[in-house]
Amino acid sequence: MRVLVVGASGVLGRALVPLLLVAGHTVRALSRHPSGPAPGLEPFAGDLLTSDLAPSVAGCQAVVHAATAIPSNPREPGAWTRNTQLRTLGTRRLVAAAQAAGVERYVQQSISMAYADGGDTWLDETAPFDPSPWRASTVEPVREMESIVQSSALDWYILRGGQFAGPGTAQDVLLEALAAETATVPCTGAYYISPIHPADMATACVAALTASVTRSTFNIVGDPLTYAAYVDHLADLRHLPPPRRNPAAPCPPSSAAPPPPPKRTWPGAQSIRSGPKPVDILRPATPLLPPSSRRSSGVEQRFRKARVGGSNPLVGSKF
Ligand SMILES: NC(=O)c1ccc[n+]([C@@H]2O[C@H](COP(=O)([O-])OP(=O)(O)OC[C@H]3O[C@@H](n4cnc5c(N)ncnc54)[C@H](OP(=O)(O)O)[C@@H]3O)[C@@H](O)[C@H]2O)c1
Repeated sequence: MRVLVVGASGVLGRALVPLLLVAGHTVRALSRHPSGPAPGLEPFAGDLLTSDLAPSVAGCQAVVHAATAIPSNPREPGAWTRNTQLRTLGTRRLVAAAQAAGVERYVQQSISMAYADGGDTWLDETAPFDPSPWRASTVEPVREMESIVQSSALDWYILRGGQFAGPGTAQDVLLEALAAETATVPCTGAYYISPIHPADMATACVAALTASVTRSTFNIVGDPLTYAAYVDHLADLRHLPPPRRNPAAPCPPSSAAPPPPPKRTWPGAQSIRSGPKPVDILRPATPLLPPSSRRSSGVEQRFRKARVGGSNPLVGSKF
């Protein structure tokens, strides 16, 4: 099928496009900075928020919305406005264009970090989103985005990805901090995170294009682990000392905790951009390693109900 990918130049998109091509699909890549054409790849100049989307969707059987706008300085006033617009206005525009064009399959990339912290309990796709007022600016646009998709007449999938991990993701910043011995683990570090490699996330996107049961929402995450275990393992892989614990620092935000002080920082919360534009979207941002070479692969687990640590250091800041 011909698949319109919005966000093809991003971390996820650059893992997704080669997989789509290998699967025999034709990719139309909507971008504000389109790259050159290649076999099976149709670059298409456009902006999800302002362009007439009808020409970009015309002739496509499927659409994937994987666009986002993580600000380089998350603390600037209005820094998250564009990201919110992509999730709300962008989704509304894309869904409308897809419906008008008779698109057969729509895949919406979402985030599992919108759940309320579940502590030690497993969270499946029926778990409630975090109602905390201090997380509303993150959670409410996600809720609206998913609602737009769910109330459409399309055959849709919503894929709630865990925190991306691997080269080209926020993990790079954490690794730098570990090497500089500036990384710390807030509170006990016993809260869960559920990382996912972008290549596994991309595999789930490809599967969702042809899977038979539609109008469904799935968590796409690797096995959950505590943040302390995660950073200690990363440090160990690099033969670095484990980062020091900071019991005085508040745990990440959750419905059970008060809002964090505004000045609190965490190295992984910094933005990872996908490089100078235009980027080569046929060169994956992350190596497409076989699942066996990674400790935890979401490929086998992609449509499994998975536990998601609702609270992690990125919640409320990066996403
Ligand atoms: N990063 C994570 O840990 C994580 C975890 C779970 C889920 N997700 C979700 O996964 C998706 C992809 O994230 P990512 O980290 O791969 O993003 P990214 O690397 O920051 O890439 C952002 C993409 O969005 C596109 N974009 C931004 N504004 C646009 C606009 N106005 N019109 C058209 N395209 C626009 C960019 O395309 P151009 O610049 O080429 O126009 C770029 O391809 C998002 O939905 C994100 O919420 C991310």
